[in-house]
Amino acid sequence: MLTVVEALLFANSAVEATEHQITDIFKALATPSEAIYNLSVLAFAVTGAIFVVVAGLLTYAIVRFRRRHNDDDLEEPPQVYGSTQIEIAWTVIPILIVFVLTGVTARVVAALQDAKPPKSAVQATVIGHQWWWEIKYPELGVVTANELHIPLSATRNEYPTFLKLQSADVNHSFWVPQLSGKTDLLPNRTNEMWLDPRKSGLYLGNCAEYCGTQHANMLIRVVVQPKAEFDRWIETQKKLAMDQPQAVQGKRAFESLSCVNCHVVNGSPSERKFGPNLTHLMSRHTLASGVIDNTPKNLRAWINDPQEIKPGCLMPSMKLSDKELDQVVSYLQTLQ
Ligand code: CUA
Repeated sequence: MLTVVEALLFANSAVEATEHQITDIFKALATPSEAIYNLSVLAFAVTGAIFVVVAGLLTYAIVRFRRRHNDDDLEEPPQVYGSTQIEIAWTVIPILIVFVLTGVTARVVAALQDAKPPKSAVQATVIGHQWWWEIKYPELGVVTANELHIPLSATRNEYPTFLKLQSADVNHSFWVPQLSGKTDLLPNRTNEMWLDPRKSGLYLGNCAEYCGTQHANMLIRVVVQPKAEFDRWIETQKKLAMDQPQAVQGKRAFESLSCVNCHVVNGSPSERKFGPNLTHLMSRHTLASGVIDNTPKNLRAWINDPQEIKPGCLMPSMKLSDKELDQVVSYLQTLQ
């Protein structure tokens, strides 16, 4: 589906689309997604068995009692009225099936929701915005966007990540199929979910609740790393952006333009948080919430006219001159 959306979106665009991996709901790689997968297999097996029984009886009746050529057309078949045993059976059996499925589902949901974070758990807050994800690690003092880094958790109690899910505007839904089910991000409310990925690597997800024009391009990337690597990433993210001599002019341009009305670079005077925090922009692999790769060419095209790449997004074209564009891009590229 993503490819179709992309094909439409990028048909007239010179910007290269990000290569997408398959997000396979049948390849669960964490406890929550596995519990949901197992539950769906059970539900499928039960409903599949019901289908086979009903379709089998129906087929048998159609074949066995079909009209034959030598039948006497005028004679009615014997009429049977009611059978207590059969009626009890087809009332009680479906009720039992519904109870079993409801009970098992309730148990899985409760087990996932009641899980308590161990001391070693990583706490992160994900805030949905139109159309990007703000990511905070309140205990670790890190703020980033769109690419959620979490540690590998070989067992459920090792280094699971517990997420608080909030929204800055409308309803969104956090969904990374191989890690967990969907959980909504709602204004004025905090929902929770947890992830304990068993394989390191990149997991792709998408906002799963229609939230406006660019809902389909509200992509989320989860980078799962061994704990030591994750800790190193946190340390890098905590640092302030280094002032690079070659970027002084660019920095001045960035701070004098409207960029700072929405974006924060830690250590600079701006406090506005309407758009993604850019302190370590270059450590991210994509721009525009996963829509394009983070390359110098794409970065320039994005700043020049975000509406070309993500029509309707809340970042306007600032109509920068070529010189200003070059300065801003070269400054942003120093934000490692
Ligand atoms: Cu956010 Cu759909």
